[in-house]
Amino acid sequence: MSLLAIIGGTGLTRLPEFETQRRQPANTRWGVPSAELTFGRLHGRDIVFLARHGDSHTIPPHRINYRANIQALKDVGVTEIVACAAVGGIRSDMGPARLAVPSQIIDYSYGRAHTYFEDDLDHVTHIDFTFPYTPQLRERLLDAGQQAGLRVVDGGVYGCTQGPRLETPAEITRMERDGCDLVGMTGMPEAALAREAGIDYACVAVVANWAAGKTSEEITMAEIEAHLARGMADLASLLQAFLS
Ligand code: HPA
Repeated sequence: MSLLAIIGGTGLTRLPEFETQRRQPANTRWGVPSAELTFGRLHGRDIVFLARHGDSHTIPPHRINYRANIQALKDVGVTEIVACAAVGGIRSDMGPARLAVPSQIIDYSYGRAHTYFEDDLDHVTHIDFTFPYTPQLRERLLDAGQQAGLRVVDGGVYGCTQGPRLETPAEITRMERDGCDLVGMTGMPEAALAREAGIDYACVAVVANWAAGKTSEEITMAEIEAHLARGMADLASLLQAFLS
């Protein structure tokens, strides 16, 4: 049987219209996840919700226990994850409040516990990561976007930076040269761990701001929050179509 989890990021510590049934604390061999797992119903379907940065948004990207988060979901039988993430837009069609379903990843993060395969191994395992986001799940998310009448960008390269600071314009220029279309801080190692755990995984990115240097202005938290509020309304419509 399939069980869907939604991981909520910045701007999505709670799902609108979600009916909570029970909250379950979790403890895994990798430690404790960011928050209790919340079981409940959304648009008629049983799902599990996890707030990536904690219920009160207190855990910065580099301090998230990604291994515990994915393991905790695995332990309760989750088979697919829709990861919601706030990002900065690099490519010209990735402006504020736009939704995108990225297709590739470049990882610039460092020092994060990023694999389940390191100690006490019977053999060395190298997961395939040709398609870092599960193609069928991506397609279903894009179909849902279309059903909801939204213009969702299909594909794009998500560049994962370390944070918590935002990037310099020079860093964004380098990322653009590398082929990045979006920049966020939490996409890795989350996606790779889901693959290691055998859980289908795809991301809906909500653009919170133009990436550093893409406008002449500095990036403010007020701007990020205003754009996210708009993008999150579209994300809620996409999720409704996805689940219904
Ligand atoms: N950079 C990295 N992560 C982000 C950004 C950004 O500009 N906006 C939202 N998350």
